Amino acid sequence: QVQPVIMAGGSGTRLWPLSRAGYPKQFLVLAGNSSLFQQAAERLAGLAAADIAVAPTLVVGNEEHRFMVLDQLRETSATPGAVLLEPAGRNTAPALTLAALQALEEGADGGADPVLVVTPADQTVTNDPAFTAALQAAVRAAADGAIVILGITPDRPETGYGYIRSSSDACGLNVEAFVEKPDAATAAGYLAAGGYYWNSGMFVLRASAWMKALQRFRPDIAAATRAAYAARQVDGLFVRPDKALFTQVPAESVDYAVMERCPGSDFVLRMVELDAGWNDLGAWEAVWQVAEKDAQGNASRGDTIISDSHNTLVHATSRLVAAVGLDDIVIVETPDAVLVAERSKSQDVKNIVAQLGREK
Ligand code: GDD
Ligand code: MG
Repeated sequence: QVQPVIMAGGSGTRLWPLSRAGYPKQFLVLAGNSSLFQQAAERLAGLAAADIAVAPTLVVGNEEHRFMVLDQLRETSATPGAVLLEPAGRNTAPALTLAALQALEEGADGGADPVLVVTPADQTVTNDPAFTAALQAAVRAAADGAIVILGITPDRPETGYGYIRSSSDACGLNVEAFVEKPDAATAAGYLAAGGYYWNSGMFVLRASAWMKALQRFRPDIAAATRAAYAARQVDGLFVRPDKALFTQVPAESVDYAVMERCPGSDFVLRMVELDAGWNDLGAWEAVWQVAEKDAQGNASRGDTIISDSHNTLVHATSRLVAAVGLDDIVIVETPDAVLVAERSKSQDVKNIVAQLGREK
């Protein structure tokens, strides 16, 4: 049996002004007809069609978003499981630890140690059969004790992702090193060299394998998260780790806390290649990339008129937005804020949000 785990506590600042603290990107409809969070839930629930027994979906997210999580999950075919609520985000390593502890606890009577299929909540995948096939291979390897990471074959020198250097042996693909968000020149070098993959942020591993690796590499995070989880309060599906204890947990990502330290250790870290039209919708550029476009490369949502423009994204939420003679521009309209940006600079929207935070 596999245990889906969705990490949905991020803030998505680069997709301002649509993505806000109270309503971050994973809960927005940015591609297709459902939110990114719902698409993640649907993809994992869909593994059941491949004869994999799928447990109810565990979600780790922010206290503030608890009703959105349940409401959105109930619109999918996934069965809602526990929703672990963080009083404040401590990044993904403590989040995954909460999920692992919950999974071990739920299985306690039967002694189950489920294979966790861990996914971020901000991604799109276009080829579902390829996704399922990769996951089946990953689940097999994880059932044997390996920590499995899904790696994406890169097609451009993207600086918004982590990179995995990999080599192959008789057993499959080895992970040799991790590099988080390299600069453009380094990324271009990786592409030219070959043997590098993007870190999808999706992991498949037994709950106990995560706890063992974390205990080895970051015993401080393991102990602090265990303490917060042990003092939890349960309210229906909502599980709240102790607020005072959880806010003391060191903030660290899964990648830095554990994955990066596995190569060269006695923990078996394998990579399974995922070639399924994967994208992380981190910035408006990526939203434009995955959107359906007209013959001039324009994409739009909401009430819009686009004329004599090329490769432009117009996203309207509350008014008619008209664009004339624009090339490579992003316009995002909301009731209280409008963004106009050069498409290639859309990563820098995070600077605006930082500035807004300081002015408050
Ligand atoms: N519960 C919880 N708590 N979830 C979190 C937290 C937290 O404190 N912080 C982030 N998340 C969730 C986000 O909602 C998202 O679904 C996922 O974890 C990844 O966080 P991002 O903030 O989107 O990370 P990133 O995209 O910049 O980078 C990571 O993902 C890339 C691929 O999507 C890294 O792992 C990169 O190496 C990787 O390439
Ligand atoms: Mg992301």
